[in-house]
Amino acid sequence: MKNDIKKNQSSKIVKIGIIGTGILGNAVGLHLLRSGYELTVYNRTKEKTNKLKINGAKVVNSPKNVAENSELVIIIVKDANAVKKVSFGKNGIVDGRHPGLTVADMSTINPMESKKISKIFLKYKIIKLDIPVMGGPNVAINGELLLMGSGNKERFDKFKNIFNKIANKVFFVGGNGTAHLIKLSMNIQITMLALALSEGITLVKSAKIDPRIFLDILNSTYFKTGMSENKAYKMIQDNFEVTFTLKNLKKDISTITDTAKSFKINLPMIEKAKSVYSNAINKGFGDIDYTGILAYIEEINKTQLKITKNNYKNKFIT
Ligand SMILES: NC(=O)c1ccc[n+]([C@@H]2O[C@H](COP(=O)([O-])OP(=O)(O)OC[C@H]3O[C@@H](n4cnc5c(N)ncnc54)[C@H](OP(=O)(O)O)[C@@H]3O)[C@@H](O)[C@H]2O)c1
Repeated sequence: MKNDIKKNQSSKIVKIGIIGTGILGNAVGLHLLRSGYELTVYNRTKEKTNKLKINGAKVVNSPKNVAENSELVIIIVKDANAVKKVSFGKNGIVDGRHPGLTVADMSTINPMESKKISKIFLKYKIIKLDIPVMGGPNVAINGELLLMGSGNKERFDKFKNIFNKIANKVFFVGGNGTAHLIKLSMNIQITMLALALSEGITLVKSAKIDPRIFLDILNSTYFKTGMSENKAYKMIQDNFEVTFTLKNLKKDISTITDTAKSFKINLPMIEKAKSVYSNAINKGFGDIDYTGILAYIEEINKTQLKITKNNYKNKFIT
């Protein structure tokens, strides 16, 4: 693979760094390594870099070291505070700056914070691009994410071949902050779809109707989605294997409501969703997949449901 890339590119291979090797960072990193890129990585909790190390990544001790070793540093951490910490904190990215350095932030963060962070980077003469993505580790591992880019277009185009390697759909959408705003609007869809599926499943289960029938019919209509066609069948088997944690979706929901406030708009449903997801976290559902919101809704209805596995005796049969 490495040799193929070298043969196919007239310019030299770009040295890439990743800061944040959680669920998403690991998958993106593995895909870049398998595609032949030279990769330097840092994670606050070092053990989470082990898999990448085995696959050829250089593991270093600080974001500063990542910057020193890279031309393109991709940040994939939790939120804006974490982005600021790895960028401007002790031994942060800016301490490893050099003239060839570009930073691209894949984390899902507040768009206003994204804009501010870009401005601070510019004070250090570093261009920071926004590259939030849609899709989880299962597609990231094959370079099949959807990537939304914003910031300096010329610099975005310079690294477009890498963005095209990470994602099979790449959009450039405007100035810094734009891509993060659109990403949050995407996560409103994810939030509502997971809730709508969970409530539909719970309602049919309360009547002892097999939820598979509900899903099969839903998926024969105009209202089907990728989530109803794929993850929903795992949900009805209580399979909430994590690709994106429920607590991280709640983090995004809070960012959405904060952003709505700063734009002085009222988004009534996401406010309601925030309280449902917060309650789920308080009841201990935060570390499972976000589709585990179904498990929480079933938990609050457990006395009515009384379902044992594969015991779907339809309540309407007399
Ligand atoms: N998973 C997905 O499907 C998906 C899809 C699209 C976008 N995203 C976004 O991508 C980002 C990462 O998501 P993930 O699923 O990979 O989450 P994750 O597994 O929870 O990883 C979070 C990462 O952020 C780091 N981090 C958190 N707080 C930090 C701090 N204060 N300083 C330094 N590092 C910090 C964590 O380091 P430690 O390991 O030390 O805790 C870890 O590397 C999030 O913004 C998420 O919303 C995820």
